[in-house]
Amino acid sequence: MALEKFIIEGGRPLKGEVTVMGSKNSALPILAATVLADSPCDIGNVPRLRDVDVLARILGELGVKIERNALGRVHAAVLDETKSFAPYELVSMMRASFCVLGPLLAKRGYAKVSLPGGCAIGDRPVDLHLKGLRALGAEIKIEHGYVIATAKRLRGANIYLGGNSGSSVLGTANIMMAASLAEGTTVIEHAACEPEVEDLARFLIEMGASIEGAGSHRIKIRGVRRLEGCSYEVIPDRIEAATLLMAAAATRGEVIVRNIDPTHLEAVFDKLREAGIGFNRNCKTVAVSMSGRPKEVELTTLPYPGFPTDLQAQMMALMCFGQGASVFTDAIYPERLHHVAELKRMGARVLRVNNTCVVIGGERLQGAPVMASDLRAGAALVIAGLCAEGETHVRRIYHIDRGYENFEQKLRSLGASIRREADEAPEKPPAL
Ligand code: EPU
Repeated sequence: MALEKFIIEGGRPLKGEVTVMGSKNSALPILAATVLADSPCDIGNVPRLRDVDVLARILGELGVKIERNALGRVHAAVLDETKSFAPYELVSMMRASFCVLGPLLAKRGYAKVSLPGGCAIGDRPVDLHLKGLRALGAEIKIEHGYVIATAKRLRGANIYLGGNSGSSVLGTANIMMAASLAEGTTVIEHAACEPEVEDLARFLIEMGASIEGAGSHRIKIRGVRRLEGCSYEVIPDRIEAATLLMAAAATRGEVIVRNIDPTHLEAVFDKLREAGIGFNRNCKTVAVSMSGRPKEVELTTLPYPGFPTDLQAQMMALMCFGQGASVFTDAIYPERLHHVAELKRMGARVLRVNNTCVVIGGERLQGAPVMASDLRAGAALVIAGLCAEGETHVRRIYHIDRGYENFEQKLRSLGASIRREADEAPEKPPAL
């Protein structure tokens, strides 16, 4: 893969209007759920992202044909139900692909899916997914890095899905999809209540599933015999929306973000308010405007409706310009702090103890070469670069391409100086 980088000239306030894409973290499990359908699905608002392309490839290996038509809608049709093998080479590229396990098992009675392994944001176990599927009657073996799951027909059960860090979003998705075709009723206690789980439930209901309570900690699923294809629209991406709002505030700009569901961002608005950042929300748009430096905040990432871990890095970049000392704790992914060292290269003052960071706000950062370690860390470095003095080169932007559609074009349309170039710098092994 040819590497690319962003070159950003900092110091321009973002101004204008921008439209948010469909939700990545909704679209991925929804695409996985098409395995369950007996007829084709037609899905709108699916973002054009690297992660979506990877999942489409995996689904292709599993006999599901995924095509995008001229209007940008995705057509998914199951052509071959004999395939149930998701190889390591593909699953290790993207953890979300693990959520083909539940649908394959429920629909085809057998699945061999690679364990995803760790990633840059931490260990990320899948024990809750497996616990839930076992409770539904699946026989599960782990062999040579693969989960091999079999079941003639899954049976409904009461499943407690809480883990040490709270509920699991994709774990809940996997079990909800599998239980939709199980015999009898399943109740998931301590279910994740993220909007993306609710979106998946709405999609499954459109397909003919019987699901109550999605969006709460208790989801009840009455299994049905078959599910049909349907036409569906994915919800807007709340993380992209908030990233753009934070970028606008950090650059002291004035931006209207469109195609947003503000009710999905209450925890974020609460922190923006605390920081003294002015915003105006409507039913589908949010306008943000900022002139000075934000006030310090203290935040801990939590499962929804708490402050999302997927916005911790971007908010930290914003608070590098705060008036005082801000405190960040990531309670979901304690290791999700690789951006700290990169922000420090740009002159940020950050003290870290375990999963807590104290960010001492300052007037400015300096442009520097920095490296994205994951998608959200990459977005945070872009925000920092947009505000820094001089030029910032953000390397390994393939991470950013996984989850932000046309990121640099959107920022450029708001007046940012950001361009993409081939990254000629040699890939060095990490220093020991
Ligand atoms: N966990 C377990 N056991 C499990 C599953 C999860 O202990 O079997 C723990 C995790 O280690 C973590 C916590 O539970 O501490 C929450 O993890 P969760 O399972 O909810 O994460 P996920 O479903 O794998 C999704 C998003 C992530 C987002 C997290 C948390 C998708 C495709 N991914 O992952 O999004 O950070 O929920 O909200 O929906 C991103 O978009 O950048 C991203 C990483």
